[in-house]
This record gives sequence, structure tokens and C-alpha cells, in this order.
Amino acid sequence: MIEHKTFANGFRYIEISNNAAHAKIALQGGHLFHFEAVNQPPLLWLSKTSFLETGKAIRGGVPICWPWFGKHPTDNTLPQHGFARNSDWHLLTAEDIDAHTTKVVLQLQYSVESLKIWPHAFELLLAITVGEHLSMALTTRNCDNQEFTITAALHSYFAVEDISTVSVSGFADTSYLDTVTGEEHIQQGIITIDQEVDRIYRQVAYPVSLHDQRRAVDIDASGSTSAVVWNPWVEKCHAMADMEDDSYKTMLCIETTNALEDGRRLSPGQEHTLTSDISCSGIVMGRVIL
Ligand code: BG6
Repeated sequence: MIEHKTFANGFRYIEISNNAAHAKIALQGGHLFHFEAVNQPPLLWLSKTSFLETGKAIRGGVPICWPWFGKHPTDNTLPQHGFARNSDWHLLTAEDIDAHTTKVVLQLQYSVESLKIWPHAFELLLAITVGEHLSMALTTRNCDNQEFTITAALHSYFAVEDISTVSVSGFADTSYLDTVTGEEHIQQGIITIDQEVDRIYRQVAYPVSLHDQRRAVDIDASGSTSAVVWNPWVEKCHAMADMEDDSYKTMLCIETTNALEDGRRLSPGQEHTLTSDISCSGIVMGRVIL
């Protein structure tokens, strides 16, 4: 079932329910802000104090960072993570493929406003498939007569039960830029989180996996050789208006990206698709699946 909903403040979203999962997608940002498979705890973390209002970025779910990831490379007055997450997207299609699978396609195109801050003609398509797995595919088309380069992220915020018990596998021996210290490192073994972590991993061999006490979340990707792992920890969390002070304990971002050297240069007419396919295994609602 696909329902179109609007909050009293005008914030519009699509609510999807099928036999496998339940999801909510905001038209602002093409932003998936809830995904919950049947008999599983919510996959995605959403801040209890997140803004769900026009013009303000949502804290949680899967923000789309595009056409630049992080700070703008040359102009600090431009918004962090680009403009796609705060833009109004157009719903192209929403259909139930079968009783367990629903597919939604959203579109963002260049406009007078976008050309003022990023002078390129583009079309961006985001396909979100809600089923036993969560699949997202972000396609950038160069509609300009000159080449352009993008960096991007499917900035997934995962819900975890207790950050002190979380481990992330799949990154061993991978090099990363620690953006907290500016240093380069090689990952030794699994990732655990006991301080602020903000890292861009290079040459990532997907899939990677997030483990907590209740489940494993497997993240596969294509069109990407980089990933970001982020947890703001105590002080940054406290400083953010849209996060509760102890929120860092129940979330971890593992973002499928085109960051650093993994940015993509597109010629006129060329397109690039960044995908993320996320599935869960292991413990479901306190029961071990054998
Ligand atoms: C992460 C970055 O992807 O997003 C962090 O690596 C950043 O540096 C975080 O703090 C959140 O960004 P924002 O703009 O949503 O506060």
C-alpha cells in the first residue's frame, strides 16, 4: 500500500506498507526516514528531535548528499553535503511490484535556484525498493554540454542497540582518512566505536557488515569504492540542536559514497549510478534465527 501524507506544517511524505516492510520517504530530499522489516526493529535511526519541516535537513534515515559530499571544495558559504537533501524532489513512480516489494522513483532536476549554486544541467534519479531488503540507486545524468564532477553519499544512519557493543567488519587492511585528526591510517581488524569517529575509507571491497547484539546488517554497494563511518560521540552530539545528548549511543552511520578520489567525472550525456543494498540477518525481535 502506498499512501501520500502531509503533516500539518506542510511536510509531505509517502508511506509504504507491504508484506515485508514499512517505510516513509519525504519528498524533501528524496529522504527515506523510516524503514522497518516485518518482525525486526527499525533498521534506520531517526533523531527524536529531528526537524521534519520544509527547508531543514532531517537528522537520521538516509540523507542524499549531492553534488558534493562534506564541505564544498572551494566555497564555505555553500551548504555542507550539497543541496539535494534540502530540495523538493518530484515523485515519478510508486508501484507495488508484488505483495512483498514496492518501488518508488524520485527525480530532481536542475533549476534556476540550483544553477546559482552549482552551474550544471543535471537529472538525478533515486530509486528506492522497499522489501525484505532495502535497495537504493542514485543515478546522476549529465544533461549539460560540459563535463562535471560529483561527490555523493547515501548517508545511512543505522539504529544500534548499544554503540559499546557494535563492531563493523569488511574494512580490515583498508586505508582511510581520519577527518577528525586529518591523518591517514590503515584499518586493523574490525571497527569498534569508543570515541568520535569520522573516517573516509578508500578502495572498499563491499559488502561490509554492522553487528550489534541483536542482528547483523549487511551493506552491499556498486558504483562506489569508498565509504564513510561516522559517530559524533559525546561533545559533537551535545552541540547539535537536532540530536539528544545521548543519541550517539544508538546510531552509527555507514555511508555508501563517492568521496575523495572516488568522485565521478561525467561527460555530457553520461550517467553514473551509486547503489546500496541493505539486508539483515541474525537475531529478530530477541529470537535467534536458526
Ligand atoms: C558525515 C560527515 O558524513 O556527516 C561528518 O563525515 C558530518 O563530518 C556528518 O559531521 C553530519 O553532517 P551534517 O551536515 O548532516 O551535520
